[in-house]
Amino acid sequence: MADQIKGDPHTASPGVGQVAWVNEMTRKRQSGPSLRLSGHGDAQAGWQSSTIAVHAGTHDDPTTGAVGTPIYQTSTFILGDDQYQAVEEGYARDRFIYTRYGNPSQWAVQEKLAALEGAESAIVFSSGMAAISATVLSMLDKGAHVVASNELYGGTYNLFHHELPSLGFSVSYVNPRDLAAIEAAIQPNTMLLYFETVTNPLLKVVDVPALGQIAARHKLRFVVDATFTTPLGMHPLEHGAHVVVHSCTKYLNGHSDLVAGVAMGARKHIDPIWPRLLAFGGCLDPHACFLLERSLKTLPLRMRAHAEGAQAVAEYLQTHPKVREVHYPGLPDHADHALAKRLLSNMGGMIAFAVESDAAALKLLNSLHLMRQATSLGGVETLVSLPFNTSHAAYTADQRTRLGIAPGCIRLSVGIEDPRDLISDLAQGLASL
Ligand SMILES: Cc1ncc(COP(=O)(O)O)c(C=O)c1O
Repeated sequence: MADQIKGDPHTASPGVGQVAWVNEMTRKRQSGPSLRLSGHGDAQAGWQSSTIAVHAGTHDDPTTGAVGTPIYQTSTFILGDDQYQAVEEGYARDRFIYTRYGNPSQWAVQEKLAALEGAESAIVFSSGMAAISATVLSMLDKGAHVVASNELYGGTYNLFHHELPSLGFSVSYVNPRDLAAIEAAIQPNTMLLYFETVTNPLLKVVDVPALGQIAARHKLRFVVDATFTTPLGMHPLEHGAHVVVHSCTKYLNGHSDLVAGVAMGARKHIDPIWPRLLAFGGCLDPHACFLLERSLKTLPLRMRAHAEGAQAVAEYLQTHPKVREVHYPGLPDHADHALAKRLLSNMGGMIAFAVESDAAALKLLNSLHLMRQATSLGGVETLVSLPFNTSHAAYTADQRTRLGIAPGCIRLSVGIEDPRDLISDLAQGLASL
């Protein structure tokens, strides 16, 4: 049914006749995905993040009084005059019509995420990559050029390197810490700056406010992937970003049991992303929305535990004779420590460190009892992986060294376990080398 809705300006390609119709229509834009489902009204404006995490968006069931958002496990909704009118007049994003268009479970988690991020509007997606691809493609006109970090998450790099050129877009990759190089890479057809808040795996901190100023000076759109820092670490929208994206698969969900993404920003930037969600189809299932919303209630608690654990583990690793280098922004001798202290209110749970060689790193991983060998990050359980055979396997050893990834580099996503147990697991593993 929803697939065949006629006259929806978001899904119809703007043919000649339709453009006139769209221009003539009276838009009744009303509160929608940023609607206060929670019933707390304006009270939430003054709340701290721990309170927002628990209450914003959460929608107590009006029928039974059950505390917490019900799972609206439905693909479609009964159509009445209001819904027909929303479709006819072009505000279908603000009504429940079909779950790819919107669903109360999505709205609830969108509202919580937007409140945590300080954003006006949010759209959740079926993965971080679905959020990133829909966002980027909503921001580029034909033939546009993008300036992006040369240390992007691999999936984003693949999108930029393989998919964007085949659609007629071009991308320049620059060192995210070199502001002069970023400015020099801007061309007359540049439309977008795309950066991550903290790089993987070496945890270089990116000067998001400085990039925001470059974007403003050159009238460019600016998208920031803040997966590593979360809304508890930084609010890129306050520093000039137009849209912030996250892989919710990581810290936001935090339990390694779902895959999801989100794009957030002012409604004028998020509305154009919505038709790409409809076209590419990456909507988030209501049950996953429920899990994500429930997980977000403990995000501030979890982020505190991740950062405290990571600080303790990093300090321990720094003193160990078999560890050659440790990268954690919370360490005073991390190259970006001063910037991290200025920009980040939570240093996160990611650490990179290096032992003697890739062979030694493999041996260490295989002798760990508590930490799990797995890719991904941000879960309550500590995960450990090696860039050389996971995220950076496509690079040669020489290329990895040039990126600063030393042989023997190990990536730790510190969970929320007691740091003393993590340290004793590492101690027995390092003793085997
Ligand atoms: C920084 C960053 N952005 C985006 C993604 C993609 O997220 P997803 O796996 O949810 O599609 C990842 C995944 O590892 C990531 O680390």
